[in-house]
Amino acid sequence: METEKKTQTAAEQMTDRDLSEQIKKVTKESHVRAENTELMLSFQKGQVTLQQYKLLLCSLYEVYQALEEELDRNSNHPGVAPIYFPAELARLEAIEKDLEYFYGQDWREKIVVPTATKRYCHRLRQIGKENPAFLVAHAYTRYLGDLSGGQVLGRIAQKSMGLKSSEGLSFFAFPGVSSPNLFKQLYRSRMNSVELTEEERNGVLEEAVRAFELNIQVFDDLQKMLSVTENKLQNCSTHSSNTPAKTLQ
Ligand code: HEM
Repeated sequence: METEKKTQTAAEQMTDRDLSEQIKKVTKESHVRAENTELMLSFQKGQVTLQQYKLLLCSLYEVYQALEEELDRNSNHPGVAPIYFPAELARLEAIEKDLEYFYGQDWREKIVVPTATKRYCHRLRQIGKENPAFLVAHAYTRYLGDLSGGQVLGRIAQKSMGLKSSEGLSFFAFPGVSSPNLFKQLYRSRMNSVELTEEERNGVLEEAVRAFELNIQVFDDLQKMLSVTENKLQNCSTHSSNTPAKTLQ
């Protein structure tokens, strides 16, 4: 894309004062922790199960619904407008498609989310209303993550779950982004163009650490939900082999 090419030089001239550099630095440790959650380790080891992935999709649906509604509502806000790329980045429709693939047409009635996901969405809606300049921290955390490690994870997930095509994996595909690397450069330069007071900048950096933390809590809560179900299943099969076990659908 022409715009992606133009920003390449700008990206090469970044300095320590740039929001994109600062945000990467302050979230570095959180990124390592996120990568090392049980759920993300399952992905990396090529061991993600269909149950894990389906449950993750439910939470991603709630999170992106809140994030994208707040970005849309605040699209003219000076802290949001430069990083507002719905045509390239919006994930909600892709997730809906995947949910329909895995759960069927009545997927909306089958969505299950842990408390941590509700907490994450609550925070997104709160800052969307009270402090839209902080939305950049959340958009960065999710979208740049999806365009980075997420690309590899998509290919691994396909293999791990034995899916023959990329059906059910629309979430990982960005048809509006021809080069993830160039797009990330464009995104970083747009982040750096946002005018922020020192106080606002510190607030955004703190919010980014919080965004990672919220994601980690979602992954941990999902894992807990799964182990509770597995234990229940084990108990059911030990105590009564005739009673059908209630599973997460
Ligand atoms: C960037 C891997 C999980 C958010 C990256 C990069 C890799 C990566 C290789 C590119 C680093 C670079 O260009 O310097 C992974 C792996 C993960 C994982 C293997 C788990 C299996 C996550 C999670 C989040 C996340 C859970 C957030 C919820 C990000 C962000 C960036 C990034 C925001 C962009 C950093 C920047 O350039 O400023 N990740 N990641 N990642 N990841 Fe992850």
